[in-house]
Amino acid sequence: MSNTSFTIDTIISLCKRRGFVYPSSEIYGGFAAVYDYGPYGVELANALKREWWKSMVQLRENIVGLDSGIFMSPKIWVASGHVAGFSDPLAECKTCHMRVRVDHLLESINVAADEKMSEEEMNTLFSEQRKQVQCPTCGGNDFTDARKFNLLVKSNLGNFTDDWSKDPVYLRGETCQGIYVNYKNVLSSTRVRIPFGIAQIGKAFRNEITARQFIFRTREFEQMEMQYFTHPDQEMVEYEKLREYRWQYYLDLGVKPENLQWHKHERLVFYAKEAYDIEYRYPFGFKELEGIHARGDYDLSQHAKHSGQDLSYLDQKTGETYVPHIVESSVGVGRTFLMILCDAYTEEEVNGEKRVVLKLHHRLAPIKVAVFPLLRNKPELVGLARKIYDTLKVQYMCEFDDNGNVGKRYRRQDEIGTPYCITVDFDSLEDHTVTVRDRDTMKQERIEISHLPTYLVDKLK
Ligand code: GAP
Repeated sequence: MSNTSFTIDTIISLCKRRGFVYPSSEIYGGFAAVYDYGPYGVELANALKREWWKSMVQLRENIVGLDSGIFMSPKIWVASGHVAGFSDPLAECKTCHMRVRVDHLLESINVAADEKMSEEEMNTLFSEQRKQVQCPTCGGNDFTDARKFNLLVKSNLGNFTDDWSKDPVYLRGETCQGIYVNYKNVLSSTRVRIPFGIAQIGKAFRNEITARQFIFRTREFEQMEMQYFTHPDQEMVEYEKLREYRWQYYLDLGVKPENLQWHKHERLVFYAKEAYDIEYRYPFGFKELEGIHARGDYDLSQHAKHSGQDLSYLDQKTGETYVPHIVESSVGVGRTFLMILCDAYTEEEVNGEKRVVLKLHHRLAPIKVAVFPLLRNKPELVGLARKIYDTLKVQYMCEFDDNGNVGKRYRRQDEIGTPYCITVDFDSLEDHTVTVRDRDTMKQERIEISHLPTYLVDKLK
């Protein structure tokens, strides 16, 4: 029997207990909205990045990778519009001084608002709804007016004066700006021609006002972004292709289709032609997983204007010169991670006991194979189990476990999503076979030790 209704606290607790995610700086009382990825978390996050890279770069002839710096010229953030307009509406509860995002407060009472509204529009709406909204911390409803709060994180990199904050360098608020400013470099140093894409995975930083949904919204996070440069006439054609490609990507990762939906943006930033989110049904409701945006020529035109450089493209075949239009796919590693855990989390009743199992796609499982000696105090069993572990670890992330009884070891591996567990018992010493147990079916079969590599290649392909 399987039951998959759970809260976000269930996932937070599993992450802490099993070494996926830890709160930052815990021994110092914590550090809000930053999280650390533990031993299994880093494996899962790396697997997610590998899958994304394979789908976006390796399998795509005309998409290439990039790794630009976190720090860039502050002029980039002026040109992109972030210095003037990258903000969220903030209000403060006058009773408990909790800072809240007004668009989220309004959303909680089903009033549509978003961060693209002007301060005035937001305050008009907020005033109309004052009586209904409640402070999530103290329940009060006496708030200050909303004001726009800029999300860029500032630093004093390379500035040795005391009043550096007047002339800050920003930690990047999104990775794609590094792509736009390198578009000409990529064109002149590689063989790509329009249409082509540049993909990048890297850290981004935002001074999020409220970040109370675990790794869903954090102040330091990793983005996986791909910017596709197109002829203006082809922008919407490529946009539709990208939407389809990204949707299928999640299905191929094993995400349940009933937990995914499209959300079309009704209010667009002025330059955007169309914007959709892929939303996932997190334990706190359907929320944005990934943004897919048709951005027109805004980004390159802005950077051309502010840098004074010509960022137009000359089509050698037709002789046409134009500023490429861009379609983008942008998703956070943390949000993908949380989705994958929620989607895989399963509670089952087995022989009257609860079994927690992460039914992860084997490509994502942090550990692919665990190897156990039946008893830890029998050197013959331990020796043979170690030999098998040493052979398999060359090919897969493996774990050797001789702690507690085999039942407990299975439970531990189920909770981290290990697809196969191998047990070496006394028969193994005689007939050179081992028990291989399948995580999902819990079925066990005897496999000859010499056949293990081919057996696993087939199962884990
Ligand atoms: N370049 C476009 C861009 O950055 P965005 O909608 O602001 O667009 C894209 O962010 C994606 O980045 C989101 O869909 C989400 O997956 C992730 N993301 C954004 N802010 C985040 C945060 N504070 N914490 C975790 N992930 C975040």
